[in-house]
Amino acid sequence: MEKTRILVTGGTGYIGSHTTVELINAGFDVVIIDNLSNSNIDSLDGIEAITGVRPAFVKGDCTDFATLEKLFADYPGIKGIINFAASKAVGESVEKPLLYYRNNLTTLINLLDLMPRFGVKGFVFSSSCTVYGEPDENPVTENTPTKKATSPYGNTKKISEDIIVDTVASGAPFRSIILRYFNPVGAHPSALIGELPNGVPQNLIPYLTQTAIGIRKELSVFGNDYPTPDGSCIRDFINVVDLAKAHVVAVRRLVEDKTLEPVEVFNLGTGNGVSVLELIDTFEKSTGVKVPHRIAPRRAGDIIQVWADPTRANEVLGWKAESTLADTMVSAWKWQQHLREKGIM
Ligand code: WQD
Repeated sequence: MEKTRILVTGGTGYIGSHTTVELINAGFDVVIIDNLSNSNIDSLDGIEAITGVRPAFVKGDCTDFATLEKLFADYPGIKGIINFAASKAVGESVEKPLLYYRNNLTTLINLLDLMPRFGVKGFVFSSSCTVYGEPDENPVTENTPTKKATSPYGNTKKISEDIIVDTVASGAPFRSIILRYFNPVGAHPSALIGELPNGVPQNLIPYLTQTAIGIRKELSVFGNDYPTPDGSCIRDFINVVDLAKAHVVAVRRLVEDKTLEPVEVFNLGTGNGVSVLELIDTFEKSTGVKVPHRIAPRRAGDIIQVWADPTRANEVLGWKAESTLADTMVSAWKWQQHLREKGIM
């Protein structure tokens, strides 16, 4: 039987590469487009080493309409798109809002615009728990009210969701699944693919693993005086391979016409809130490696606490986060060691 062809934009990136692996393992034919602005072509080697298959790759920018038009013509029969291609650094988005609005929104609009012409039936969108802001109650369900975004990056996620809903409501001949990720962490257990941080990491796990290996002197814990049990912020850390698997279920649901609504929204999280201090402790216990850290002032703009109620994804998609936090920390550490062995950092 012919394999179903899926376009993965941003497919050499962190979540894109893990999703490509799971798509190939599930029997899909994957075409990747990526401009390599925040990822490395070597991810293709990692994907091939894990799956035995090298996905088709187009180096290109999704903000360029003609590039995408050519891609759809060169790779006919694409049935679904998973859109990871986006800029994602919160701080940078405050400095360069237009870069974020241009990249993230133009990419989305170009893809939605081209889908009908090439008969693409389904669109999976990477959204974020950032749309909930600081929620009044935890855990958050998909019906928890969204709040005003606190950064241009977050606002691109909110606006993108609206653009998708409006486009599908206008009668466009396709459907969409919006996935709201909580905090994706860890790496493939093979340590052949993972997150490649650019410069000094802003996110907790890359900073933590770089500290553990000695690249950074110490990890700053941003605040221990929050109204939480241990005073540090609380997040829902979701294993990236678990997250990747949810995309396979979502895109299959779209191409097989199993969706119940034209646009479905799912939270992708574990359902467990874990504090920053608890996370450090889990890392140290599961890897046996100490992480020098100190309490630092609060970071401006941080949400105090947010974690998912993933019931809808569990019941409707039949998907559940399976990895333990300890295993996830071990995978993040193995990936950091792999980067060292390869001389990358
Ligand atoms: C987690 C916790 C920090 C670094 C952001 C975006 C979100 C998503 C993921 C993606 C916070 C604390 C961090 C450090 C620390 N977008 N921390 N010391 O802020 O929850 O989410 O990234 O692409 O939309 O908002 O993730 O990893 O930056 O922080 O104490 O050196 O770790 O204060 O409480 P965040 P994070």
